[in-house]
Parts: sequence; structure tokens; C-alpha cells
Amino acid sequence: MSKQRAKLVVGNWKMHGRLAENATLLTEVAAGASALQNGVRVGVCVPYPYLAQAQALLGGSVVDWGVQDVSAYAQGAYTGEVAADMAADFGATYAIVGHSERRAYHRESADLVAQKTRRALDAGMTPIVCIGETLEERDTGATEQVVGTQLEAVLLVLSEDEASKIVVAYEPVWAIGTGKSASAGQAQQVHAFVRAKLADKGAAVANVQLLYGGSVKPENAQELFGQPDIDGGLIGGASLKSKDFLAICQAAQNASN
Ligand code: 13P
Repeated sequence: MSKQRAKLVVGNWKMHGRLAENATLLTEVAAGASALQNGVRVGVCVPYPYLAQAQALLGGSVVDWGVQDVSAYAQGAYTGEVAADMAADFGATYAIVGHSERRAYHRESADLVAQKTRRALDAGMTPIVCIGETLEERDTGATEQVVGTQLEAVLLVLSEDEASKIVVAYEPVWAIGTGKSASAGQAQQVHAFVRAKLADKGAAVANVQLLYGGSVKPENAQELFGQPDIDGGLIGGASLKSKDFLAICQAAQNASN
């Protein structure tokens, strides 16, 4: 029997938001999330310039905040980079690392993602390590090999204790921003594979939270989150509307009842 893990729903705003509209969104999310029970955790990962705003508006609420990337370096002459410690200065709890958009558009390698994971942990944050296959990889039967390799690169640089502190998000590239989510069965199948890989690293790692991401909506969230190895979601587009995001958080609560 798998241990009951708490659900987690994290919004990834990507490169969206402006000061005025963020204020409304953050305030509404904080107010709505306060009604959640059953240990459902909620977070939002905002663009760097809005980290202080997130801290100001979410501080004292049940909603945590975080960033969408961190530098692989601790500090130094790396123009344009943001160190994990800097995000931690603003109370960030989560750092997304290895999102497929960064792997694809910024050529981030598996090793670089592993270094970023380590930096986030060293700064006291929870890295949300994203893994996922492209449609072509799925169609050629390479899904497990691709996500397995992405995950192994991260686990390789972490101790068992460190690895037990990460969150993993399975985000099939073909499901991101397309409106076409993986089916609950497809997602569960990959999550079970990822869970087994984590268990290979040690008993403490077997129960890390595994999120699904890719076109999660209020309509499909509960079925996805009801799968035995899906512990919540990483939400893109739907996290920009408080009503939709809160409905997805509610679905996580319903799924854990
Ligand atoms: P969408 O929910 O917009 O498909 O994005 C998913 C995602 O990439 C979250 O990190």
C-alpha cells in the first residue's frame, strides 16, 4: 500500500503578469486557498520581478511562492542570472528547475538541471524538477527512457536525504499549453514508473510528491489527482485565473478525501 501523501498544487505563471493584475490574482488566490483542508498545499511561481510582491501579498497566507528557475551557480559574474539565495531572500519556497521550455529554448542539459536542483536545495528551497517527453519520443516508445534519464541525472548528484526533499513534475511536452492533457491513465502509468525509479534511490525518496503538468483544467483535475501516484499538479495557463486555479486546488482536496 502506498502511503497517503499530501496534495500540492503549484501555479507556474511563466512570463505572464503585471503589477496591477498580479495584486488582484494573488489576493484572490490567498483568500480562496484559506478555505482548503486535508493538508492541500498551494504555491505560485512568479516571474522574478514580482517575487517581492508575492511575498508582500502572500506572506501570512496559506499560499507559498517561488520562482521558475535558478542559476546553476552560487554567485559571481553571470550577467542576467538569478541565484537561488537571492530568491530565498524573498521567502521563496519553490524553485521550478528543468522546465521543458528552458530545456528546449535555453538548451538546458540534464546536468545543468541537476546543478540547479542542488542550488535550490542548498538555498533551503524545494526544487520542482520537471521531466517529460516530446510527442515524437512518445510515439517512438521512448517515454520511459527519456524521463528516466532526466530524473537519473538529478538523483545522481543528490544524497538520499537531499533527494527526499525534492518534488518531481511529470510534464509531457505535447500536453503543455495545447489544451490536450494526458489521460489520467497515461499520466499514472508514467508516474508509477517515476515512483519506482525514486524508490530505487532509497525508501525515503519513494514518497516524494509527484505532480502532473500539462493542460490541467478544473474539468480534468480531479480525475488526474485521484490517481494513486499523482500528488497534485503544476499548472500553467489555468493558474492565471483565480477561479480556475482555485477550482483545481479544490479538486486536489476532493481527490484526497
Ligand atoms: P499548461 O497548464 O498551460 O499546459 O502549462 C503546464 C506547464 O508547463 C506548467 O509548468
